[in-house]
Amino acid sequence: MRDIGIGLIGTGFMGKAHALAFRAARAVLGDVPAARLELLCDMPAERAKQMAGQFGFARATDDWRALVCDPAVDIVSITTPNRMHCEMALAAIEAGKHVYCEKPMGLTLDEARIMAEAARKAGVRTMVGYNYIKNPAFEHARKLIADNAIGTPVHFRGFVDEDYQADPEIAWTWRARIEDAGLGALGDLGCHLVSMAYGLMGPVESLIADMQTIHKTRPLSNGSGRGTVENEDVASALVRFAGGAQGVLSTSRSAWGRKNRLGFEVHGTTGMIVFEQERMNELQLYRNEGPAEEQGFRTILTGPAHGAYGAFCPAPGHQLGFNDLKVLEAGTFLREIVGGARIGPDFAEALEFEKVIHAIALSAREGRRVTVRE
Ligand SMILES: NC(=O)c1ccc[n+]([C@@H]2O[C@H](COP(=O)([O-])OP(=O)(O)OC[C@H]3O[C@@H](n4cnc5c(N)ncnc54)[C@H](O)[C@@H]3O)[C@@H](O)[C@H]2O)c1
Repeated sequence: MRDIGIGLIGTGFMGKAHALAFRAARAVLGDVPAARLELLCDMPAERAKQMAGQFGFARATDDWRALVCDPAVDIVSITTPNRMHCEMALAAIEAGKHVYCEKPMGLTLDEARIMAEAARKAGVRTMVGYNYIKNPAFEHARKLIADNAIGTPVHFRGFVDEDYQADPEIAWTWRARIEDAGLGALGDLGCHLVSMAYGLMGPVESLIADMQTIHKTRPLSNGSGRGTVENEDVASALVRFAGGAQGVLSTSRSAWGRKNRLGFEVHGTTGMIVFEQERMNELQLYRNEGPAEEQGFRTILTGPAHGAYGAFCPAPGHQLGFNDLKVLEAGTFLREIVGGARIGPDFAEALEFEKVIHAIALSAREGRRVTVRE
């Protein structure tokens, strides 16, 4: 199997996660091509060089345009702030590269549409960083639903809450400006929840929503006053899935005490499945069976019986972590590039997730039900 040259742009939170994932994917999963850490880009050049040494990349640059055209690069990984995703992805696609882009794809739905269309036309492979749906626990929830373990799913309750913007005195950053970040809590957090709802319940047909900016200004870090927060801290939607089920999606970046409370309940006609990311190795399953006095939720702790868990560790209950989800995502993409089955989510599928968050924002702004999927 030939090795695949990686060009990574960005060395922050997600840059490190991608670097670790590409380093580990073959060692963990075995049946994927080796990733060659070819070229790392960040600014300034000194940081790129330092992080290339730390991550194990052969070369470093401060010029992302040179990276996307580099002949030794096969995959361009984009882990920069949201406003750069579209331009970088389009340049990489034009250079004939496969693209692994962090979420959300673009600042606007138009950008996401343009990216998906460019990738389709060029015939390159793409992957978007919706890592939570790679969790073996999540895949098991999908299997339980497919195996009719809870009957017909009739209702989805999803939430994704963090508290990184709960304190009104936290400094203003680019995340508060529409031109740089696009949506607020919806683009940062809500899109992950939508990727899970989509995987379990199918596409959303229509929704009606509300949203709010709780802290309307924040102190500027240079001490020159306060900057305006232009996007939402909180959003909630009532959704109708194309399959007929109903759901509730809610997200907040100002929820004190919640660190990564991404989770859902799927209510079925004969039972329920519950998941929370802060306990990402567990599912709760309730089935309407057995004597009434013995009924209750049971905890399923993931282990080698669940999907790719066993590739990391032969012992149940020892638990996977966030970075392992990135290993599964990178491994999926490496396999796809050498002709493996398309698993995604690619740009076309991620566009469907992003249609939902933009529909939530539109519905909230205009105070009306919005159709997502005709
Ligand atoms: N999948 C997930 O779970 C997840 C989690 C967090 C963030 N994200 C997404 O990842 C993206 C990055 O977020 P982050 O938290 O890693 O941000 P970050 O600020 O930690 O890192 C951004 C990196 O991009 C670099 N950068 C900025 N401009 C550049 C340029 N012109 N050329 C080269 N490098 C440049 C920065 O120097 C930095 O290294 C965002 O789109 C975010 O939504 C995804």
